[in-house]
Amino acid sequence: MADPEFQPAAESSIGSRLRPVAKDWIAAIHPYVPGKSTGVDGQKLIKLSANENPLGTSALALAARIGTGGGAGDPARYPDPESHALRAGLGALHGIDPARIVMGTGSDELLNLAAQAFAGPGDDVLFVRYGFSVYEIAARRCGATPVIAPDIDYAADVDVLLGCVTARTCVVFIANPNNPTGSYLPRADLARLHSALPGNVLLVVDQAYAEYLDADADDGALALALNTDNVLVTRTFSKIYGLAGERVGWATGAPELIDMLNRIRGPFNLTLTGQAAALAALQDQAFVESSRVHNHAERTRFAAAVAALGNHGLRPLPSEANFVLIEFSGALTAEAAYKGLMDDGFITRWLPGQGLPQCLRITIGTASEMDRVAAVLRNLAEAAR
Ligand SMILES: Cc1ncc(COP(=O)(O)O)c(C=O)c1O
Repeated sequence: MADPEFQPAAESSIGSRLRPVAKDWIAAIHPYVPGKSTGVDGQKLIKLSANENPLGTSALALAARIGTGGGAGDPARYPDPESHALRAGLGALHGIDPARIVMGTGSDELLNLAAQAFAGPGDDVLFVRYGFSVYEIAARRCGATPVIAPDIDYAADVDVLLGCVTARTCVVFIANPNNPTGSYLPRADLARLHSALPGNVLLVVDQAYAEYLDADADDGALALALNTDNVLVTRTFSKIYGLAGERVGWATGAPELIDMLNRIRGPFNLTLTGQAAALAALQDQAFVESSRVHNHAERTRFAAAVAALGNHGLRPLPSEANFVLIEFSGALTAEAAYKGLMDDGFITRWLPGQGLPQCLRITIGTASEMDRVAAVLRNLAEAAR
């Protein structure tokens, strides 16, 4: 029944059909496209589309999450807003003062906050073509202008990036290793990029896949984050730690940078279970190491199997991450390979939306999955001749 007391607040606005209008820069955003886990008819597929850990999650992290002996905490209460124990654990593992660590709801939140804190309308946010798709969203979200530096054979090039820096540049994003290409900027190149950037430009080095690098590889970004004023490094528990579903990321940099991100992050942005599981996962470095070794071995084997199809136009791009991007230039197209793999029960990542209709990104799965994927690609390539 109509409430006799009710008076529309603004009759004229109802009459003229006014409605909220989003900011132009928000309306210009193409939403992030997540990796799929089902086929067109909804059937469950083996998911090699989102760069998750095929070995799952550390048993310690699973136990901490479910909560044996007191549990992750009382869900009726808010979680620790500052993730003290988790930041202390990260600090101890990486040799960083915990005060210089900020947690995020996945590293996604931190990438967005970095752009929001340091760029706005009239400013440029720079990243390389075929970089992680969140960078463009992060730039547009805060009204800044995304500026895309050309790649060189799918990889970032320091001189090309520097050539795009202007007085308007406020933030530079670089993923190292990069998604979706798997390319890697070595330490000397990253140092050169940093030293040539003006000090007022924030360099965000997104190390979502850093733990997959060989044990002795180091792009030097953490040292830059500790010793300079304008480098922020982001990391995640979503990849090698196998906790994508818990949404835990972190960033480190100069205290002034961390302070700004703390001002605008969600106050309780990490859940009880996320904090408990991530802390336990940190204690299980044996799981991390076995995941790294597995990935290295299977990536090498898979890349070799794809390279053997070079006469059919398949080329695996060099990857330092937990996936391989394959370029298709022969009779078998990336789209046909994507569909053929789906018919065989695998969902991979075809990337026309990111300007890569000629490429398929395939996450490294188990050994038997990679054997089957390689066999399907070979059959498809031979049939397409
Ligand atoms: C390069 C890169 N950065 C950041 C992320 C975001 O990870 P999360 O928000 O799960 O920490 C991803 C996820 O795919 C990624 O590929």
